[in-house]
Amino acid sequence: MAELPYTIAIDGPAASGKGTLARRIAAHYGLRHLDTGLTYRAVARELLQAGLPLDDERSAIAAAERFAIGDMRRDVLADHTIGEAASKIAVMPGVRKVLVDRQRRFAGEGSGAVLDGRDIGTVVCPDALVKLYVTASPEIRATRRYHEILSNGGSADEEVILADIRKRDDRDMNRDDSPLKPATDAHLLDTSEMTIEAAFQGARERIDAALKQN
Ligand code: C5P
Repeated sequence: MAELPYTIAIDGPAASGKGTLARRIAAHYGLRHLDTGLTYRAVARELLQAGLPLDDERSAIAAAERFAIGDMRRDVLADHTIGEAASKIAVMPGVRKVLVDRQRRFAGEGSGAVLDGRDIGTVVCPDALVKLYVTASPEIRATRRYHEILSNGGSADEEVILADIRKRDDRDMNRDDSPLKPATDAHLLDTSEMTIEAAFQGARERIDAALKQN
């Protein structure tokens, strides 16, 4: 059995399927789950609500220290504007430092956790038991997001979604502090041609093998 607490680190770009996969893994292994994207979104929402500029690092740091992780709700933070703003405040090292500390504390409690985000395997939990890097082509991710919006009763333009995804990828992959990239020891899961069930089975094989070995 692995030493406790252990972490499963899941990284990948927007709409890659990493959130769904993280929730499945957490439920299967009885681990707590932290969607770290929500922590950046919670900070962005506070700044937007206060009408503050998104590069106001002092206010963003204060917001990052203040909000309650247990109160974060994806439905409240799901808005596209909040996601865009989150990726802008996420370039500020002072904000990242506060959030990364809080994410590490979450990972260290109890028997362990599944964390998903952009820098979990590279920065937040470099000693994670298993690291997964979930990806899919921008076109496939845009189509998925489009159908998700339609099935929730909304309307959208797939071309606009694709352009947004490319812009967000570019910002997240090319920032100076903790850019999105696979850790050298991450297992790559390309979900372009794979169902979530197949991705889950692939992840399970890796995790079961690591649990047996450690
Ligand atoms: O995953 P989600 O779309 O909710 O993340 C919103 C933004 O927060 C991302 O585009 C990224 O810029 C930032 N983020 C980050 N590091 C993480 C999680 C999210 O920089 N670990």
